[in-house]
Amino acid sequence: MATWSAPGKVFLFGEHAVVFGKPGIAMAIKPRVYVTVRKTRHPPRVRSPYLENCFDIMGVNGSVYIHSQLPSSSGLGSSAAVTVATLSAINDEFDMNYTRADIGDMAYSVEKKVQMGKASLTDTHVSSYGGLVLIKGETKRRLAPQSFQLVIGNTLVSHKTAKLVEMVGEFKKEEPLVVDPILDAIEAVTIRSMYKFDDMKVLGRYMDINHALLEALGVGHPMLTRLVSEARAAGAYGAKMTGAGGGGSMIALCPKRSKNKVASAIEACGGKAIITTIDTDGARKERDYGRNSNSKIRR
Ligand code: PMV
Repeated sequence: MATWSAPGKVFLFGEHAVVFGKPGIAMAIKPRVYVTVRKTRHPPRVRSPYLENCFDIMGVNGSVYIHSQLPSSSGLGSSAAVTVATLSAINDEFDMNYTRADIGDMAYSVEKKVQMGKASLTDTHVSSYGGLVLIKGETKRRLAPQSFQLVIGNTLVSHKTAKLVEMVGEFKKEEPLVVDPILDAIEAVTIRSMYKFDDMKVLGRYMDINHALLEALGVGHPMLTRLVSEARAAGAYGAKMTGAGGGGSMIALCPKRSKNKVASAIEACGGKAIITTIDTDGARKERDYGRNSNSKIRR
């Protein structure tokens, strides 16, 4: 039996613009997915296409126990975390010698297959390595970890990343004179943010600007608007949607002392709050979590 875990992620800056080759900054977050894999001669039937493809790509069979602290379909990278943790646990349980980079690559191809080609490199990379990552096209650069204090607000409104990405693409095609400057402005905010990682007030302001620019691209949602403005009113330095938008989640950058107040404001509006910070570990081996937990058998 082998148990591995992998973290979720948020986009701090640059989502959607990254699709057009602009830089984006993503960060691994503390909530994790825990996966236990065990060799069995007669594994139960497959329930999830992600798990099925993990076993297929590794060419083995086994049973899986999953315990997730991450809500699914909320823009927090839960499917990537499940995939990375499952591949890592299979690698360990079956004594394969794949490296972290191999696991990251395989996780990306599993996500791409299950999501019909519409997966982003970001989620699987950040979940495998943890920390803070600058993404631009196919390149990924690790940035020095920062102890940003975040409150995540899940709108509980599910969204379809592929549809939102397509919508922005159409908008850009129809109105390049309008959309291109918006993408340029997102790029500018993303680049400037890296010079201000130690100035929470300015960084918060950049988040507010990034949120407004995403709304201008048409990927806002009334619930995101509500959670973002309530978080700011409750003392956040700044707040923005994170990920594809149209529902999903938002993040608020907060002074440590305001985190509980911001979380309560989010919950008072009907959102689900998660108080968190950076996760620097990426995928990691755990003690056998599955044996003594109430995790569900998923395969
Ligand atoms: O909502 P998420 O976590 O799937 O993030 C999507 C981010 C986009 O920039 C809109 C798409 C992408 O592949 O980077």
